[in-house]
Amino acid sequence: MRMYDLIEKKKHGVALTREEIFEMISLYTDEKIPDYQMSALMMAIYFNGMTDEETFTLTEAMAKSGDTVDLSRFGDRSVDKHSTGGVGDKTTLIVAPIVAAAGGIVAKMSGRGLGHTGGTVDKLESFPGFCTSLTPEEFADQSERVGLAVIGQSADLAPADKKLYALRDVTATVDSLPLIASSIMSKKLAAGTRSIVLDVKCGSGAFMRTPEDATRLAETMVRIGIANGRNTAAVITNMDIPLGHAIGNAMEVTEAIEVLRGGGPDDLRTVCLTLATRMIALSCQNSIEDAEAIAKDCLYSGKAYQKFCRWIEAQGGDASYAKDPTLFGIAAHVGEVCAEDDLYIASCNAEMIGTAAMILGAGRQTKDSVIDPRAGIHLLKKPGDRVKKGEVIARLFTERKDTLDAAASTVRSALTFSESAVEAQPLIYAIIDGNTVRSKEDA
Ligand code: URA
Repeated sequence: MRMYDLIEKKKHGVALTREEIFEMISLYTDEKIPDYQMSALMMAIYFNGMTDEETFTLTEAMAKSGDTVDLSRFGDRSVDKHSTGGVGDKTTLIVAPIVAAAGGIVAKMSGRGLGHTGGTVDKLESFPGFCTSLTPEEFADQSERVGLAVIGQSADLAPADKKLYALRDVTATVDSLPLIASSIMSKKLAAGTRSIVLDVKCGSGAFMRTPEDATRLAETMVRIGIANGRNTAAVITNMDIPLGHAIGNAMEVTEAIEVLRGGGPDDLRTVCLTLATRMIALSCQNSIEDAEAIAKDCLYSGKAYQKFCRWIEAQGGDASYAKDPTLFGIAAHVGEVCAEDDLYIASCNAEMIGTAAMILGAGRQTKDSVIDPRAGIHLLKKPGDRVKKGEVIARLFTERKDTLDAAASTVRSALTFSESAVEAQPLIYAIIDGNTVRSKEDA
């Protein structure tokens, strides 16, 4: 195989063969193909796309480029959830214990936050002592014992994707649908669960800005999962507005605990129950109606909260924080953004709110930035709410006083106002599973 020939083929829109894709991924992982040639191929894919067959093969080749986790002993019960990334997205902290309480086995690798989006691993590390690096044996053992384990991404999992993603990031080729879909799904396949539910975010704080683009990505990922023998479904959810009221690690954990105790914001609870229903349906083989009733029972009976406490303890975290979240404490400096008039809030740009939280210390500007668990934003008012002049819309928390002005001005720029009432946006745009997914040709 000559890489030059593959670039030439793809430049003219000719599909690559299975053998070509597997050999190319293997050689690239072993550093036998230079980045400049791979960049040229990525750009040709960006312009000419890939057939479903090519996308499935690329995903499989990347998934097999390194270690794979063997969870076969759990059968369909092993289940993973993936979010394409958002602001205030603490759903894993709620959904995972609900599903584990229902009998699913949630064995999950999660990421850290970068830029305006948060990461589950950072949120979990708000608990003193919580350990996100378990050995493969510890991971499988805890999954079985507790029904739930969440660890950081292993460097040896889908190493081809790691290299390719870093290359795409600097060659303007991230936003190619087959490349995004294969990148995400290669890690899910390597992580080994039989059932996969994807939370594809859509809106100003997400990769996919429109429901149409989000649907095309979701459908491609569902087709990849099914082609690889995994029970796969996707829920397309709103990320035009941050989810819930809390943005920032310990604050998000506290809000998740509120939901697990039967309170918390409605939007967050609705998205969590929708995701949990699909995960229970796939992993425990229930009808959607039964799965929904089970998810609600696990949440409202307190079984999911008990499972959450057990999970935190099992991974070395101080579970007294789960019982009394005030132990997380409050950051040293607090700022406010107030309404300048009597108006309705019309919109709240999720990306900008995420950026403001990052400025306060809740997120990373670079991979090496250090997170401040107590930094963040509490959005007291959201689109649709009426505010009075002087009323607090958002409270800002930080250990670094000098960040307050820049963050407050970013929050102000994220908001728009209206004199008349505004219509609520949909929270869930669509649900795609094996029964409803369209073929590439029909999409
Ligand atoms: N997340 C990934 O893991 N890969 C992409 O290509 C985009 C988002």
